[in-house]
This record gives sequence, C-alpha cells and structure tokens, in this order.
Amino acid sequence: MAGKKVFIGYGTRYGATEEVANRIAEIIRNANNQVQVENLKKNKNPPSPQDFDGVIIASGIRCSEWTKESNNYINKYKKQLGDQKRIFGLFVCSILAVTNYKEAVNNFLRPNLVKVGIPDDSNHIIYDAFGGVMDFTKTSKIGLFDKKGLQVWAKELKNESEGSFTYEEDGKNDFRNWEKIREYAENFSKMLTENSN
Ligand SMILES: Cc1cc2nc3c(=O)[nH]c(=O)nc-3n(C[C@H](O)[C@H](O)[C@H](O)COP(=O)(O)O)c2cc1C
Repeated sequence: MAGKKVFIGYGTRYGATEEVANRIAEIIRNANNQVQVENLKKNKNPPSPQDFDGVIIASGIRCSEWTKESNNYINKYKKQLGDQKRIFGLFVCSILAVTNYKEAVNNFLRPNLVKVGIPDDSNHIIYDAFGGVMDFTKTSKIGLFDKKGLQVWAKELKNESEGSFTYEEDGKNDFRNWEKIREYAENFSKMLTENSN
C-alpha cells in the first residue's frame, strides 16, 4: 500500500526546525505514507500542494518573523492550502512558545490561518508552536551577533518570569518537547487517513 502523499517544507536559520521537520517526516513515513521533505531555502522550486494529500509548512522564529521562504510558500499557495482538499499543517519553533504559548500561537500561527482563509476548527488544519533552541555554547550554529541578541532577550524573559523560565547561560538549552512533536505527527497521520477527499 502506497499510503498518502505528504510534502513538508521548512525554513530554518540555525537548524532546530530542520530536526523537527525530519522527525515528523519519519513518524508520518512509519504510518505508511510517502513523505517529501524540503528545506525551502535550498529548494527554490518546491512542489505545489496540489500534488499532495497533506502539506506541512514550518519555520523557526527570529525577531518575531518567519523565514522569508516559508512565508513566501504560504503566500504563493494560499488558495490551495486553505481549500480543505488536503490536510494542512503548520508549526513553528520559538522561545515564546516556552514562555507564553498562547501568544506564540496568536502571533506566529493564527495570522497564517487567516491568510489562507481556513477556520481554526476545520478538520483539515493542524498547527502547533514548539519550543526552540538557545545554544550559547562555543560550537553553536547561532552566530556571535545573533547570540548576543538572544542572550539579552533571554535575560529579560527570565527576569519577567519570576522563576518559571530558567536556562544555562553558557549551555545548549533545547526546549523542544519531542513527545509533543510525536503527538503532532501522529495526529497529522490520523487526519490523513480520515480525510476521504
Ligand atoms: C537572534 C535571534 C532572535 C530570536 N528571536 C525570537 C523571537 O522574536 N521570538 C521567539 O519566540 N524566538 C526567537 N528566537 C529563538 C528561536 O526561535 C529559536 O532559536 C529557534 O530554535 C530557531 O529555529 P531555527 O533553528 O529553525 O531557525 C530568536 C533566536 C535568535 C538567535
């Protein structure tokens, strides 16, 4: 059995979202589906949603912004992503998802639902905000300038949080919840099976 066809397109600046996209792909594949995963910065000509039963578009967040490439994909294909003929998944990796989950959903995900015109209670949409990575080690993929910026912001978040948000100042702080990520991928697979279109 060939299963359903799924496309996962992601944008990443430091690699966290790429690892999540690959893990999600693995789980959906294990449920007997065919999955194509693309880094939207590297593949300048990603496939149209029209050829797929399910599409997931994802991004890491920097200064409250999606990557340009993931954003462009949604803008280009908003009609197909919102037409409820296929399962449409969205996710982001961000630190706001750790310190204020609701705000992360409202800021980074809901505007895209509105953009494609899909109601958030549709049984064709699945979205989530996962934690991100703050790697302050010497081997970090985050460049020196960005690292400094993130360090300043992280300190502010810690001070505002009254003890609920802590991290290692020189360490790799990985806030991704792999159990939550697994659940997302399993739910996506289930929705694919249930979608009769
Ligand atoms: C310079 C910089 C700015 C960031 N700005 C934000 C932000 O505005 N909001 C947020 O929630 N996370 C922010 N983050 C945290 C990232 O979302 C987190 O590191 C995430 O894992 C990045 O995903 P990526 O590695 O796939 O690019 C920032 C990180 C850096 C390095």
